[in-house]
Amino acid sequence: MSSSVQNLKRLTLRDLQSTYLKKEKLSMLTAYDVVTAGILDEAGIEMLLVGDSLGNVILGHETTLPVTLEDMIRHTSAVVRGTQRALIICDLPFGTATDPETALRASIKVLQKTGCQAVKLEGGLHCASIVKKLTEQGIPVMGHIGLVPQSIHQLGGYYQHGKTESSAQYLLESALTLQSAGAFSIVLECITHEIASGITRKLNIPTIGIGSGSDCSGQVLVINDLVGLSLKPPPKFAKPRADVASVIRKAAREYLNEIKTTSEDHRPETKEEECLAGLS
Ligand code: KIV
Repeated sequence: MSSSVQNLKRLTLRDLQSTYLKKEKLSMLTAYDVVTAGILDEAGIEMLLVGDSLGNVILGHETTLPVTLEDMIRHTSAVVRGTQRALIICDLPFGTATDPETALRASIKVLQKTGCQAVKLEGGLHCASIVKKLTEQGIPVMGHIGLVPQSIHQLGGYYQHGKTESSAQYLLESALTLQSAGAFSIVLECITHEIASGITRKLNIPTIGIGSGSDCSGQVLVINDLVGLSLKPPPKFAKPRADVASVIRKAAREYLNEIKTTSEDHRPETKEEECLAGLS
């Protein structure tokens, strides 16, 4: 734990609400491990999301669908252990929020086993009863609408939402319904700037945008996209601020080179010595 975040109190929903009411933008990044989480906490990021993007970013799956609740619990626990100040949110993975009871059982497990403060779930209107159930039980819920990667097969690809009138209408209705159900915030993923801006103005809870323009109440990015640590190019909206992949590649090549060019060779020189070495 870094000394600069020692003895800091963890941010609460009330802290985030007061930042929002002051019209200050909110910051969120994904984190999946103790070291990165500790560094982001030290940098002052207010919310760390253990996203089920874990599946693509860390575990190498094509989609987020194979991610399990156990995966989320393991990584969220690490993120909680590495941080003192940031509010930690755990994504409910595919199949764990299909109805209010299932989502409640999964969320209780997550909060009890990890020590995180909130859960996030993907989906619009149809998720209202789930959000209501969880918030009635004192579990803070972040909503997530627009491009919802757990529904990738139904959506048929990664594209911008809110372009047609019916899509825009559905997104606005979803946002208002999730707010009424008790969500403390909503992620707007890949929604046109105009629609994201309109939704943000109509809500009285913060929207956190990703690829949805600059008018949201806050922004979130996948940490690997922010720091250039990936085998694939980042999405268009993510501007990498560093090239960590190059730093690692350079260090590994230097290390490799040093090993290969070290001249000392401790192998026994004669057959007899080789046999004796084997016996000792
Ligand atoms: O899983 C994730 O990382 C997310 C963010 C992109 C919002 O849901």
